Amino acid sequence: MVHDPDHLLRRYQLLLQISSDLTSTLDLPVLLNRIVQAAADLTNAEAGSILLYDEVKKQLLFESASNLDEPSMRGLVVPVDSIAGWIVNNRQSLIINDTMHDPRHFGGLAQSTQVTTTSLMGVPMVANTKVIGVLETINKLEGQFSQDDMDLLEALGSQAALAIENARLFQQSDLISDLVHELRTPLTSLNTAAQLLTNPRVNDDMRQNIVRVIMSETGRLADMASDFLDLARLESGRAQFQTQVFEFSPLLEECASLMRPKAQERGIYIEMDIPGEQLMLRADRNKVKQIVINLVSNAIKYNQQNGRLVIWAGQVGGNVVLKVSDTGAGIPPESLPHLFKKFYRVPGTERITQGTGLGLSITRRIVEAHGGQISVESHVNQGTTFTVSLPQKLES
Ligand SMILES: Nc1ncnc2c1ncn2[C@@H]1O[C@H](COP(=O)(O)OP(=O)(O)O)[C@@H](O)[C@H]1O
Ligand SMILES: [Mg+2]
Repeated sequence: MVHDPDHLLRRYQLLLQISSDLTSTLDLPVLLNRIVQAAADLTNAEAGSILLYDEVKKQLLFESASNLDEPSMRGLVVPVDSIAGWIVNNRQSLIINDTMHDPRHFGGLAQSTQVTTTSLMGVPMVANTKVIGVLETINKLEGQFSQDDMDLLEALGSQAALAIENARLFQQSDLISDLVHELRTPLTSLNTAAQLLTNPRVNDDMRQNIVRVIMSETGRLADMASDFLDLARLESGRAQFQTQVFEFSPLLEECASLMRPKAQERGIYIEMDIPGEQLMLRADRNKVKQIVINLVSNAIKYNQQNGRLVIWAGQVGGNVVLKVSDTGAGIPPESLPHLFKKFYRVPGTERITQGTGLGLSITRRIVEAHGGQISVESHVNQGTTFTVSLPQKLES
């Protein structure tokens, strides 16, 4: 076989280009299609194909091939004693330049595709030490599959495995699809506003209004981004907790001072009913602060003008209990079961005040991460009380 370093270099350049191509899509079918195409191109073969390993069923499933358009073969089960099965079990790449005489060759695909396989190369696709499938190319166009071909296909295989894992994780995450869904509304408003601004008939007054909308919607997007990151960290277990023993009452005073200007804007005086003696807690102080701020900020936002807001704290058994009460419009009983779901806002809230609907989800996650509990009691037209109970955990 002629060894052509220039040619090899070109193929590695192609590989680099493909890699950045792969990371740019999270759509699994599109991704698989790109991978098999790339496999065939890179190794100068007639076709490339991908089989994914189903760990639960212990099955190899045919997913995609560059020479097939129709999805009829998708999900076809490939026997474990096939060549692909051998690759999964042995975690090793394989070249067979004479497929016809290898007993492991599985004819099932050839039968349905009319493609005769004469030579075959396959590599295991490994992501995070797990074999997730096999990448194959068949029928070398000129000569035989070489070690260079195998090196290239292995490199592509590991890139592909990571890209596939990413796409799968992305597809499984409700959080992401919820976010994408929620982003539509502000983006649509921004788009409409921008279009309106280009209309010459829009006068100065209207223009100012439109700019106000743009500012408020971009603000909401920014809030969403930071709330969303907080929630994503908490949900995935990536949030870091720094526990320390601290006094609860000074923390409440701190939160009240922070929130006082906002309360004053609405004529609300924050009443504090908290113990003078030491009330100790072992927890992540900043995250507990976030709990208090979220509840107090809701009690301000959803209160009536000049309403009452009471922060109560005390020790009950081995728990520190916090109650935040307001005299707002209350929450209708049918909304209560949804209140702690992400992005949920009581119908009609949008008209009263801006928000992301993530505050209470974050709050509940933090409370639960501390082994605590949160509950709500509300009476329409009277007000709402949120109660948080956190175990003191002083002895540990
Ligand atoms: N104290 C309260 N009084 C009345 N409704 C409330 C109160 N706190 C929360 N809510 C309702 O619960 C929804 C979710 O709250 P939250 O998760 O903090 O999101 P956000 O405040 O961004 O809307 C709010 O949109 C509101 O409809
Ligand atoms: Mg809120």
